[in-house]
Amino acid sequence: MGKAEAVLDETMLIRDVDRGSHYIRDWTGEADGDPSFVARPRNVDEVVELVRYCADNGLAVVPQGGHTGLVEGASARIEGGHVLVSLERMNRIRAIDPLNFSVEVEAGCVLEVLHQAVEAEDLMFPLSLGAKGSCQIGGNVATNAGGINVLRYGMMRDLVLGLEVVLPDGRVWNGLKTLRKDNTGYDLKQLFLGSEGTLGIVTAATLKLFPRPSHVETMFLAVETAAEAIRLFAAARRHLADLLSAFELISDRSVELALTMPDLVNPLEMAAPYYVLLEASSSGPLDLEALVGGFLEFALEEGMILDGVRASSVAQAQKIWAIREGVVEAQVKHGTYLRTDVSVPISEVAVCIDEVEVALAGAVADGVVLTYGHIGDGNMHFVVMPPLTMAEGPERHAWIKASEAVIFEIVDRRGGSISAEHGIGRVKRSAFEKRASATQMELLRAIRSAIDPDNRMNPGAIFE
Ligand code: FAD
Ligand code: LAC
Ligand code: ZN
Repeated sequence: MGKAEAVLDETMLIRDVDRGSHYIRDWTGEADGDPSFVARPRNVDEVVELVRYCADNGLAVVPQGGHTGLVEGASARIEGGHVLVSLERMNRIRAIDPLNFSVEVEAGCVLEVLHQAVEAEDLMFPLSLGAKGSCQIGGNVATNAGGINVLRYGMMRDLVLGLEVVLPDGRVWNGLKTLRKDNTGYDLKQLFLGSEGTLGIVTAATLKLFPRPSHVETMFLAVETAAEAIRLFAAARRHLADLLSAFELISDRSVELALTMPDLVNPLEMAAPYYVLLEASSSGPLDLEALVGGFLEFALEEGMILDGVRASSVAQAQKIWAIREGVVEAQVKHGTYLRTDVSVPISEVAVCIDEVEVALAGAVADGVVLTYGHIGDGNMHFVVMPPLTMAEGPERHAWIKASEAVIFEIVDRRGGSISAEHGIGRVKRSAFEKRASATQMELLRAIRSAIDPDNRMNPGAIFE
């Protein structure tokens, strides 16, 4: 037993960690990581105590939220041992300020719980993603999460007003301001957005809120090509008075897979190569219905859409969103496969999709390619699944890597990013380092060593 061990409160710890538990098993069901123990602190003082204990005993620290990140950021095998710090017990909503349109919330609060709490005050927190029922605010900060409303409200980095962070040496940085404007020196909070647990443990955040939309219009539209979808996007931006809040593309193959989930049906009678899930929302006395009517008329006249349905109730809108969520949920049963979250400029989206689909049809013709994503942000998820007959093992791994190389080559050529939203974690390290300039890596490492000189926070995430 190390010298500081005696001071750790045992009610905070799980020493015999069940390998089937969510601490070890991530959202995909894969089990990885071998923590010395799991710690579940209840307050900032306990986080400080833990971090100091780890420093004294040479243990690494891996923060964990809902374990829904898809790049093995919170699953680690670290030589010398590590402590998995789950924030799940620090889940209080500390204060909602309706006049300031802000909320102060602890890192372990589940995103959907925050949604419900602010909705009860007629407010909205706009970050939303398929994992909302499990992912936590701290994880959303640490990954700079995106999701379905980015085109209107921005990514997590645009929604954070302040942070409270326990640093690797046990100091607490209280940056929980609730200001819209603050130009006093470097914007420190932004360093922790997207830091993937490598700079400190986020324990709380102050976040921007918005009026809760009183009118939401949800549509599911069939289009012939990706290029038509992008034309439709530009038209929607112009016709909907900047009230567009989501614009998702889903390929026919993706919809087909989603429909294997229970209780899902395609609301359209015709099949089409691509579908667009479009949402516009407003609060206050504005005739959104008329705006949407005018937009749809224009889109039909211009031949941009082949068919479409406009939800007439909240239940129908939820059924449409369930198809988008089903695309991801239905993938879990398919063993190992390639997941990507790339981005290119919006004007390059259509050509990028066409090139990727043609190139994959040539390179891995026996696979299943799913194209879907937040194309209003230039962000696509290309998923490539090996044939069902291909066993797990080196051949399957090489097949997956070959598909990735095909996609990344096109994304590089189109000036894109190999990670638009999920981050680097442990899965994309080498792909990231290959593309980063020497100067970028030097600056990143300088920041890392200024804050975590002993490389104790989540070693192996982001950096090799
Ligand atoms: P975890 O997976 O637990 O951790 C992720 C990383 O953050 C790790 O590196 C971890 O060490 C670090 N971390 C976690 N908590 C803290 C903390 N308190 N302090 C410091 N570091 C911390 N992502 C998107 O961006 N957009 C999407 O649309 C989207 N959709 C998804 C849909 C599904 C079905 C799933 C399974 C995932 C999706 N994701 C999406 C990915 C994932 O949900 C997000 O990355 C989310 O922000 C992760 O939050 P988490 O709490 O689960 O973090
Ligand atoms: C999505 C996740 C996978 O958009 O980012 O469904
Ligand atoms: Zn996404």
